[in-house]
Amino acid sequence: MSEPKYAFLQPGHYARGWHIALFSQELQVGEVKRLRYFESDLVAYRGASGTVGIVDAHCPHLGAHLASGEGRVIGDNIACPFHGWTFNTSGQCVDIPYASSIPDKAVQALQAWPVLEKNGFIALWHDPEGNPPEDYLPDIGEWGDTGWGDWQFYRSRIRAQACDVIENIVDIAHFPHVHGGKVKKFENRFADYTVTQLSTVDRDASANMIIPPGAPVELEQLRNEQAGSDADAWGDATYHGPSIMYYYTESRSSDINFRAWWVNCHTPVNQEELDLCSAVIVCSLDDTPLPEEFAATYPQMAHLAFGQDVEIWRDKIYREDPILCDGDGPINKLRRWYERFYLPRDITAQREKTQ
Ligand code: FES
Ligand SMILES: [Fe+2]
Repeated sequence: MSEPKYAFLQPGHYARGWHIALFSQELQVGEVKRLRYFESDLVAYRGASGTVGIVDAHCPHLGAHLASGEGRVIGDNIACPFHGWTFNTSGQCVDIPYASSIPDKAVQALQAWPVLEKNGFIALWHDPEGNPPEDYLPDIGEWGDTGWGDWQFYRSRIRAQACDVIENIVDIAHFPHVHGGKVKKFENRFADYTVTQLSTVDRDASANMIIPPGAPVELEQLRNEQAGSDADAWGDATYHGPSIMYYYTESRSSDINFRAWWVNCHTPVNQEELDLCSAVIVCSLDDTPLPEEFAATYPQMAHLAFGQDVEIWRDKIYREDPILCDGDGPINKLRRWYERFYLPRDITAQREKTQ
């Protein structure tokens, strides 16, 4: 078989970068959670000081799962429930309660994953080369502010490829077919770590749309109600790195004025599946509080919009050399940009110099 055109098409390759594992509210002090990402069993735990550790799940001693029996957190360390070997957030073995010394081989035997907790989420760093993490994830200043509250999120484990998810950001042509929208303005901007979509999309009763099975909201009805409304809305969606997208939107109409931050992210589980998550905080743009029903439905809508794409992703194949037309977005440019996260860092750096 010939080499695939892009590094991200090589089986078992996952992007270098930050990937969201959990939202902060999902991990209380003393709690241990099982995770499965990048074909690895992992555990996340929160120590007494609030610090979060993510380490490989299986103990280097005799292989117990560190979350068995709900796991055991001691101070800022995690203790194996089988014989009590204890590890810090760097994966270092710091105590074996029944041994007079810690064997040299045990000290660094457990792999720890770099963790970043900010904006109310917990991200882990994946890097096949094992280099230190890069600092590219911006703050979301509004998170935690009065009137905004904490993330309301939905997560689904779906059958999809990360390269299909990311391509959505430049795919202007799918809106009237998948999301029931008419694109009024659309622009993509690329930088080293970011790709941005600036868009204004109106609901359009004459457009097609995909209705995800079991959708809790009558999508078509809602679309038709909103079509031709006086809402004036715009949005800026930016991927920061390979898997975490921030979306900021403001919408003004005669009955609701709101602004919202979304975090849309995908974290690979294995070669076939990924966790797709959409999280929302929303706030009124004026002094009128948001209607309760709207505040409750809006996050569902965010995830449903993703769900429309999922219906396509689960069955599609990947065309390495697609036939494109002049109305398509910059698909090939996006692919080349995205590849940077799968190439060794020195090759990426060289490429950027020559571009
Ligand atoms: S298996 Fe973990 S301490 Fe023995
Ligand atoms: Fe989409």
